[in-house]
Amino acid sequence: MKFSFFGVVCAAAISIASGQSVFNPARPPAIPLAVKSPYMNTYQFAGSEGGNGGYLAGEWQSFWSGQTTAWTGMIRVDGTNYLWMGAPANGPATATQTAFQYTSTKSIFAFSVDGKVEMNVTFLSPLTPDDQRRQSLVFSYLDVVVQSLDGASHDVQLYTDVSAGNATEWVAGDHGSVAQWDYGTTSDGIAYHKIYRQTQLLFSETNQQADWGYWYWSTKSGSDLTYQSGQDVTVRGAFMSNGTLPNTKDTDFRPINDAFPVFGYSTDLGSIVDSVSTLFTLGLTQEEAIQFDGETGIVPLASLWTSYFSNELDAVSFFYNDFSTATSTANTFDNKVSRDSVAAGGQDYLTITSLSARQAFGALQLAGNLTKQYLFLKEISSDGNIQTVDVIFPFHPILLYTEPSLMKLLLDPLFENQESGQYPNMYSMHDLGASYPNATGHPDGKDEAQPLEECGNMLIMTLAYAQRSNDNAYLSAHYDILKQWTGYLIAEALIPADQISTDDFAGSLANQTNLALKGIIGIEAMAVIANITGNTADAANYTNIAHSYINQWQVLGVAQDANPPHTTLGYGLNDTHGLLYNLYGDAELNLGLVPEKIYDMQSAFYATVNDEFGVPLDTRHNYTKSDWEMFTAAIASSSTRQMFISDLAKFIAQTPTSSPLTDLYSAQTADWPGEGAGQFTARPVVGGHFALLALPNAAWTK
Ligand SMILES: *[C@@H]1O[C@H](CO)[C@@H](O)[C@H](O)[C@H]1NC(C)=O
Ligand SMILES: *[C@@H]1O[C@H](CO)[C@@H](O)[C@H](O)[C@H]1NC(C)=O
Ligand SMILES: *[C@@H]1O[C@H](CO)[C@@H](O)[C@H](O)[C@H]1NC(C)=O
Ligand SMILES: *[C@@H]1O[C@H](CO)[C@@H](O)[C@H](O)[C@H]1NC(C)=O
Ligand SMILES: *[C@@H]1O[C@H](CO)[C@@H](O)[C@H](O)[C@H]1NC(C)=O
Ligand SMILES: *[C@@H]1O[C@H](CO)[C@@H](O)[C@H](O)[C@H]1NC(C)=O
Ligand SMILES: *[C@@H]1O[C@H](CO)[C@@H](O)[C@H](O)[C@H]1NC(C)=O
Ligand SMILES: *[C@@H]1O[C@H](CO)[C@@H](O)[C@H](O)[C@H]1NC(C)=O
Ligand SMILES: *[C@@H]1O[C@H](CO)[C@@H](O)[C@H](O)[C@H]1NC(C)=O
Ligand SMILES: *[C@@H]1O[C@H](CO)[C@@H](O)[C@H](O)[C@H]1NC(C)=O
Repeated sequence: MKFSFFGVVCAAAISIASGQSVFNPARPPAIPLAVKSPYMNTYQFAGSEGGNGGYLAGEWQSFWSGQTTAWTGMIRVDGTNYLWMGAPANGPATATQTAFQYTSTKSIFAFSVDGKVEMNVTFLSPLTPDDQRRQSLVFSYLDVVVQSLDGASHDVQLYTDVSAGNATEWVAGDHGSVAQWDYGTTSDGIAYHKIYRQTQLLFSETNQQADWGYWYWSTKSGSDLTYQSGQDVTVRGAFMSNGTLPNTKDTDFRPINDAFPVFGYSTDLGSIVDSVSTLFTLGLTQEEAIQFDGETGIVPLASLWTSYFSNELDAVSFFYNDFSTATSTANTFDNKVSRDSVAAGGQDYLTITSLSARQAFGALQLAGNLTKQYLFLKEISSDGNIQTVDVIFPFHPILLYTEPSLMKLLLDPLFENQESGQYPNMYSMHDLGASYPNATGHPDGKDEAQPLEECGNMLIMTLAYAQRSNDNAYLSAHYDILKQWTGYLIAEALIPADQISTDDFAGSLANQTNLALKGIIGIEAMAVIANITGNTADAANYTNIAHSYINQWQVLGVAQDANPPHTTLGYGLNDTHGLLYNLYGDAELNLGLVPEKIYDMQSAFYATVNDEFGVPLDTRHNYTKSDWEMFTAAIASSSTRQMFISDLAKFIAQTPTSSPLTDLYSAQTADWPGEGAGQFTARPVVGGHFALLALPNAAWTK
């Protein structure tokens, strides 16, 4: 991870919606709406610093970085219009939001429309880690269920639109670029608005949004459906005046910020009493996903969905028609996370994990073909690096818990690039490219150097994958480079040179106690790898070294005379401390390298330095990191574990920040970290919140 200040531009909250909504299990800083990939990443900002408190109406939706991705919903009941989503100028009165609930895959809003009808609006971004065909689709559902609230029948029309508005909104980050669009119906009756940047710029981004690919905004075609594309006031005005749209296309393709075009649907539900469901889908199709410098040099890699579907419209129709399967699969996933989280850490822990799942998976892209698949990860917000090893490391518990085989797809690009001689350093690379989606490596070796951190991470994650998947062949296949990295750790881990760790924003330091521990655990991981692969002489050598180092480390890194004793931030700095989150690797791999007394000592200590919203990352600052807190909690005594968990759940409910869950925040105020640390948002490292669920031998693991 590389620190860089990222100014989050918050959409102005237009008004605080009236009415009191119940929020369950919490009102998060930002509500996931369509979160499925680095480029489909739209939230409702909710926190007090720029959000409107968690209401779907009264504020535009935002891409993670703050650009508006406008999405509008209106309903007409007995001739009167109401707004339930978005913030159009001159929109009608707002329906009353009565409840909001989130699960791992869904955000569900309930409304009372003037006491006449009830609406349940569900945003479902499916997570199917064990089903690559479905996971490869960058698509999300919006399901609107309406029924009478007062028992009387009501005449109802439903309106929705997406916009290619000011910031090219959904379709591109460059406000001045020209959008183009089309309307059609698939052979099996799915209506679609297709919207895209007229000049496609492959693999290019503006303001973090993709400059290539095609957006599909779809619903069921039929006699009750009317549509229109055109200027916002025209299209929304047509619906508001009589509940239908004229079935016309605006063909004046123009810059997104010029009389900005919207793509509307009106569905006439007719006279209703009982519940009626109307389903919409939004998808992004990009045939090509990634540029990758693998063993044959730089090649473009296809998005994996292209291996399963012969064209975009097949994908559109499959996804639309798959809703009932998607719903039951999502329910199964939600229930699994719910059951396991509550068992591991109670309701507060579920508040944390269920908010984190879509955000974590939302940084991923499946690529390749049916013979060879890859999984790529964007280091969102801290910078745009691809396949950052020390971002994959905090992220990886969610994969160990949900589908360990995906770890291989994530590690493979790193191995392939380095084993084919494209990286000159003896230690592991930090990332596979400065700018997602270009995984073009660092042939000059000048990536951000975190040598100890990344060598330890690669060894730990490779063994963790092999243990969970019983894939010993993977260890043999990569033995040589793993051994090379172990050599680096043997030379450098015990007495770490002055360097940064993954927490680079906190500054560099020599002799970092926590960093040394990661390196020593990496050496012992290699001893196990050597044993498994029949390299018994190496195994004996490495385990001797690791045990010798861990004994020395306990003298160098522990402030024995402190009250209570604890590990230090750096050797000999007896009045410093920090989260010893790298101890997690010892438990994750079942190494038994580090004595129990170290675990017990740290558990007892953390409770003495806890702040309002967590234990500070280290003594240099008052901020903390949510991912490392959960790594630490996972291996703590039960009372200390619950302390960490309840503090983080409280942070989620009380933080004034309004963008997608930051992992770096003030432990005193729950606000941005301050102290020059910059701001993080929407990062995949929240996958680390699943640390409790990724430990071996736990009742809830597979
Ligand atoms: C909306 O959700 C609530 C709470 O889950 C439920 O009681 C109600 O029946 C739902 N209404 C519709 C129209 O689905
Ligand atoms: C788009 O720009 C216009 C004019 O600058 C502004 O009035 C409008 O609110 C903007 N819409 C959105 C969705 O940001
Ligand atoms: C990726 O590389 C291409 C050239 O191959 C370039 O046009 C594009 O801007 C790069 N993308 C990013 C996000 O830097
Ligand atoms: C709504 O407006 C359209 C276009 O002006 C018109 O054709 C249609 O008859 C109107 N419908 C109603 C119900 O007034
Ligand atoms: C599948 O992908 C691999 C790796 O990129 C490539 O070598 C191979 O040619 C591809 N196979 C097909 C059938 O395209
Ligand atoms: C143990 O490993 C170290 C570092 O690779 C090496 O220098 C040493 O020769 C090895 N010792 C034995 C006995 O293999
Ligand atoms: C690091 O720790 C070692 C062992 O205590 C010590 O010899 C060395 O001087 C320390 N390095 C720095 C830069 O403090
Ligand atoms: C290697 O395997 C042997 C025999 O099973 C075992 O005694 C030893 O503890 C193992 N060493 C490591 C480092 O796993
Ligand atoms: C730090 O504490 C250790 C043991 O608790 C002690 O040996 C060492 O002298 C102390 N260092 C300093 C600088 O006080
Ligand atoms: C932490 O906050 C306190 C005030 O609450 C302040 O006195 C102290 O200097 C801060 N510590 C650091 C390391 O910034």
